[in-house]
Amino acid sequence: MSHKNFLLFKQKFLPFYQKVKQNKFCRDFIEKKYRHSIQVLNIGREIADRDVKLQKENKKFFELGEKALLFHDVGRFSEIAKIYQDNLYNHHASWYSKKYDHGLLSYEMMKNEKGFEDVRILAALKHHGHMMEKFYEDEEFASVENIEIKRQMSAILKWVRDADKLANFYIQKNENNLKKDPFFLTMDDELKNAPLSEKALEQFNNYQVVLTSTITSYCDRILCCLSWIYDLNYLASYQICAEQGYFDMLLSLLAEYNYNIEIQQQIAQKIQFFLEKKIMNNY
Ligand SMILES: [Fe+2]
Repeated sequence: MSHKNFLLFKQKFLPFYQKVKQNKFCRDFIEKKYRHSIQVLNIGREIADRDVKLQKENKKFFELGEKALLFHDVGRFSEIAKIYQDNLYNHHASWYSKKYDHGLLSYEMMKNEKGFEDVRILAALKHHGHMMEKFYEDEEFASVENIEIKRQMSAILKWVRDADKLANFYIQKNENNLKKDPFFLTMDDELKNAPLSEKALEQFNNYQVVLTSTITSYCDRILCCLSWIYDLNYLASYQICAEQGYFDMLLSLLAEYNYNIEIQQQIAQKIQFFLEKKIMNNY
């Protein structure tokens, strides 16, 4: 990763930072997203250093992949500026509304930038936060004919998705982020203590990532983070999660707000079995 790219990253950040910095909430949020981007690059590198599959990739893969890691969330900067403009920062519902698609914003901010026009970067920017189906259905990327480029495109997207999740687990564990993020802060007490919703639980039990659109309570939000376990791609990502105790951290957080002990035990058991199976089967 060249110094030039870090400068470009700063350039993408600063105009939006200037726009929102007078509002504490938005300033904290945009600064957090700046740090998150660097963390995703670092954690992405850690995954690559440890993963047998990723170690087989070539120089070009890492050159493009590292750009995708660092720039995947630049759309967050413009999203936060829009949220600020529209006065949407004080209500929890706005954080999970589909009003802005920050992946699409990242894609649009970078697609005409020299050195970023490659589909292997653009697919990761646009689809890092979507369900994979959306990526498979996207004409621009589905029509790529070169098999090796197509394979690398998907492998980079999966690498960014893993690093993104692990970076979030990292701040959830080390910075208590789930209690500091806008979703929690702007929620009233009744919602904070509301039980898991049937819809969220059903998705989790079917080994699906809980859709953000179905999240109604704080418990749902934690279960959604737990359900990311179904959407990790590289063995090294699972190993890091196990070593760092990320799922145990989320389970104890859930236990604080989920008063149904039986359901809590079922969730814990499912997570434990799934993680063990992933790690064992991949060796
Ligand atoms: Fe993102």
